[in-house]
Amino acid sequence: MRLRGRKGIRESLEGQTDLVILDPRSHKGQWSALFGNDHPIHVEFGMGKGQFISQMSFKYPDINFIGVDMYDELVRRAGEKARAVWEPAGHETPPNLKLALANINYAEEVFEPGELERIYLNFSDPWPKGKHARRRLTHPRFLDKYRGLLGPLGEIHLKTDSRSLFEFSLNAFADFGLQMKNISLDLHADGINEEHVMTEYETKFTGRGVNIHRCEAIVGAEAMERYQAIRMEKYRL
Ligand SMILES: C[S@@+](CC[C@H](N)C(=O)[O-])C[C@H]1O[C@@H](n2cnc3c(N)ncnc32)[C@H](O)[C@@H]1O
Repeated sequence: MRLRGRKGIRESLEGQTDLVILDPRSHKGQWSALFGNDHPIHVEFGMGKGQFISQMSFKYPDINFIGVDMYDELVRRAGEKARAVWEPAGHETPPNLKLALANINYAEEVFEPGELERIYLNFSDPWPKGKHARRRLTHPRFLDKYRGLLGPLGEIHLKTDSRSLFEFSLNAFADFGLQMKNISLDLHADGINEEHVMTEYETKFTGRGVNIHRCEAIVGAEAMERYQAIRMEKYRL
């Protein structure tokens, strides 16, 4: 693998203004305008090398996707991945995908209240030591930010191999009064359909036989209403 210096990474990112957003704060409240439509916006916080967000954008053209990571080298790698996914279909620029260099600690400086419809947290760093709990991306201090950013159909979708992070997250969602659904302790044993999109870490961990945990938390009032209707039907209430 050819190694790039920091300058090389920056130059590469600066040359990809069609896909890479290096000044995401300047788009706060303007992401729909950047995409040129008012389709819902789904973000992955901590996208890593971008396999999930690239494939999701290709699979769901009527949704706008934003992959966020704090490391420029990962944003560069995600850019390569995104183009590799889209180019065979004749798109040099993925039309419904942006990759943003940002730290989720400052998410509210990047997105306007209600601007997002869904937040994906895939294989977020588990920070297993208690003294690092505040760094977990499902810590209530982050849930508080997400609640502000998500609109009426807002949901948080979590996937992780870490049992401790999963337990912590379920408790944090519950403490926050969020309804949870589609909880799985072993996603791949429970059966995934062909629509399922794997992340890099998911590919790695399932290859080693590690269980994947998954859960969806409902944040928006309209999402809750829809879920209640489904629940009534499901249990014939
Ligand atoms: C374990 S990796 C998972 C990558 C990918 N989601 C996957 O499932 O393959 C976690 C990612 O979250 C990113 N990350 C962690 N904390 C972050 C923060 N505060 N802001 C932005 N990115 C963060 C890391 O840089 C890393 O790429």
